[in-house]
Amino acid sequence: MAEEKRMKALILSGGKGTRLRPLTHTGAKQLVPIANRPILAYVLENIANAGIKEVGIIISPETGAEIKSTIGDGSRWGVSIRYILQEEPKGLAHAVLVGKEFLGDSPFVMYLGDNLIGCGIEKFVETFRTTGADAVILLKPVDNPQSFGVAETDSTGRILSLEEKPKNPKSNLALVGIYIFSVEIHRAISEIKPSARGELEITDAIQRLITVGRTVRSHILDTWWLDTGKKDDLLAANTIVLDEWFKRRIDGDVDSSTQITGRVTVEKGATVRGSTLRGPMVIGAGAVVEESFIGPFTSIGAGTIIKKSIIEHSVILAGAEISHIDRLEDSLIGRNAKVVKCHFKHEALRLMIGDDSVVEV
Ligand code: G1P
Repeated sequence: MAEEKRMKALILSGGKGTRLRPLTHTGAKQLVPIANRPILAYVLENIANAGIKEVGIIISPETGAEIKSTIGDGSRWGVSIRYILQEEPKGLAHAVLVGKEFLGDSPFVMYLGDNLIGCGIEKFVETFRTTGADAVILLKPVDNPQSFGVAETDSTGRILSLEEKPKNPKSNLALVGIYIFSVEIHRAISEIKPSARGELEITDAIQRLITVGRTVRSHILDTWWLDTGKKDDLLAANTIVLDEWFKRRIDGDVDSSTQITGRVTVEKGATVRGSTLRGPMVIGAGAVVEESFIGPFTSIGAGTIIKKSIIEHSVILAGAEISHIDRLEDSLIGRNAKVVKCHFKHEALRLMIGDDSVVEV
């Protein structure tokens, strides 16, 4: 018997990320931190835990350099990474075309790099290995299937049909954006045409596999799935990750007048003075927190400065400064942004706010 080809992974990390503007004006959406770690780090962890060693990351000209310098060669996860440039965003199936030389004739996991799920992918890989299907697609019931690729399945989990963003969905089962393919997908991709939005859709290529009689199976995700495209989704992702995956760990310098309750992580090099920290929460490396209350479900990024402020259920990205703010809640503060209270005679707001920002006072 021929030796089974080793499974590879293709992570799609291109695109411009319009939904998280203004954050993604200056950065890749796959690098937006959840509990102080970029989404891609969770993706790579899941891939490494499934025993996959060779990873291709599809990058775009706009954000590729930032992704490379943040993620590196993969040694942190025990995988080797090849970066593959997709010059233009011509669709998910087009990304597979671009990655074809890297993929060779190996089966592969295709993983959209801005996807966060509440479990590993081992069971999903197992379904592919044991069923001998040419594709296994991860699905999740959702309330708004019109916004996704949607699958129709039979009672055994075999996929009967697929449609991208249908007006009249045949089910509520959305494609999560994690797929496993055999080498057959390449032929299917060569046989499809661009969709109405001008993209080579992976959904159409999988439908093509079904049409030519190949077996496509589904695996239903039974944990949470967060599409981190918007502010509230991002805060929700931050909350869940802190709640489910964080432990108490104090590696930074915390003085004796600071009170710590619950699962609080203070990274090495952070300094906390005269404050109250209530978990689950994380303070990143090099941050300085003074005379403040940091409440549950908050991520304070590396190198931030927080002074005399109360912050809860918020994500503060690296290098930001928050000073003398009585209460900041449900907020997402971008990198190097400043939110500072000044004491003027007249109660005036003085703002310098980037494009697409939102200020609620
Ligand atoms: C893509 C896929 C879609 C899938 C979704 C998951 O859509 O085309 O089938 O349900 O990702 O996030 P896009 O986000 O590119 O519109």
